[in-house]
Amino acid sequence: MKTQVAIIGAGPSGLLLGQLLHKAGIDTVIVERQTPEYVLGRIRAGVLEQGTVDLLREAGVAERMDREGLVHEGVELLVGGRRQRLDLKALTGGKTVMVYGQTEVTRDLMQARQASGAPIIYSASNVQPHELKGERPYLTYEIDGQVHRVDCDYIAGCDGFHGVSRQSIPEGILKQYERVYPFGWLGMLSDTPPVNHELIYAHHERGFVLCSQRSHTRSRYYLQVPLEEQVEAWSDERFWKELKARLPEDVAARLVTGPALEKSIAPLRSLVVEPMQYGHLFLVGDAAHIVPPTGAKGLNLAASDVNYLYRILVKVYREGRTDLLQQYSPLALRRVWKGERFSWFMTQLLHDFGCHKDAWDQKMQEADREYFLTSPAGLVNIAENYVGLPFEEVA
Ligand code: APR
Ligand code: PHB
Repeated sequence: MKTQVAIIGAGPSGLLLGQLLHKAGIDTVIVERQTPEYVLGRIRAGVLEQGTVDLLREAGVAERMDREGLVHEGVELLVGGRRQRLDLKALTGGKTVMVYGQTEVTRDLMQARQASGAPIIYSASNVQPHELKGERPYLTYEIDGQVHRVDCDYIAGCDGFHGVSRQSIPEGILKQYERVYPFGWLGMLSDTPPVNHELIYAHHERGFVLCSQRSHTRSRYYLQVPLEEQVEAWSDERFWKELKARLPEDVAARLVTGPALEKSIAPLRSLVVEPMQYGHLFLVGDAAHIVPPTGAKGLNLAASDVNYLYRILVKVYREGRTDLLQQYSPLALRRVWKGERFSWFMTQLLHDFGCHKDAWDQKMQEADREYFLTSPAGLVNIAENYVGLPFEEVA
């Protein structure tokens, strides 16, 4: 098979890049290791920045999001008994976020791919990129033990944190920056109405809590838990009891409980590799960077990378601007690092680090909470990052 851009991975990054390029008349082949059902079974975050929403509209996959997604103009932060609503719209000159699950974004993109008739290969094993530094890169993969080959101009590595793309870059090229946190998030999804019409991020001495949602009838809650915690130890009853214990009384009193549809624990981690390009291979999304979920930036940073790579490739194919290819990594990374900073900052601000922070750092954390939640400039700072910083022009 021959194509212009071969895409490894059919998560949100690969599917969105594929859809945008298809609309621009650029041929792609997507090769994914898992089945579509498996990809859709993963429950991930659900807050889309304004820029991500705009990009999904540009890709022509926003119809259901615009119908079913919930536009949120504010978010609540609860710290030390103080309840501070951030009026995102007022603080950012009119920007908002869209609450719409990543699973739904992925489903819409999969349907668009199918409708377009552009090739997508699921259940491909042993996917390998080759000749990344040469003029004729290609991919190989296996289906039922048979090896297939895709020749291409460029390869987009959209295969997530555990993918093959980053690993196929020779040792010594990438520099890795990493921060691990001494706790994880226990998430629970339930068909119960959300406890609040907006998201609540709460710091509590028992640990951080997030009250999120997927719709008016489906809630998503998270509890900070120790890293060694086992999900089996958390009955529904225990989860609800602990959640109530970490929320203010009036909020806890109106919490509607019900059976869990899903429960899982995810460790928190920040990681970036630089550069995000090696020859004709471009790393996109989780393949190049991971954020802790506190700032809701994972999917949005993936969309940010897609935005830049898509605009560059369009200029490459339409105007012969191959000089722009080297711009991808620095452009993408400038925005990635700001997203990393915000995710790290929100994680620091809102979690209980217990013995993992020394006395000085704990005081700094308290001062940050006091300052950012009381100063108008502090509130603007959080709000403008939460709704998403602007994209740079590709020129
Ligand atoms: N070959 C082919 N496909 C692969 C391989 C491989 N060797 N390894 C991984 N994949 C596939 C995975 O099965 C997955 O479907 O690549 C896809 C990567 O998708 P994601 O992990 O969702 O990454 P991305 O598309 O960059 O989306 C970023 O996902 O993890 C969240 O917080 C993150 O919300 C953000 C979003
Ligand atoms: C979610 O709804 O799953 C969610 C929302 C906001 C976050 C993280 C996760 O910051």
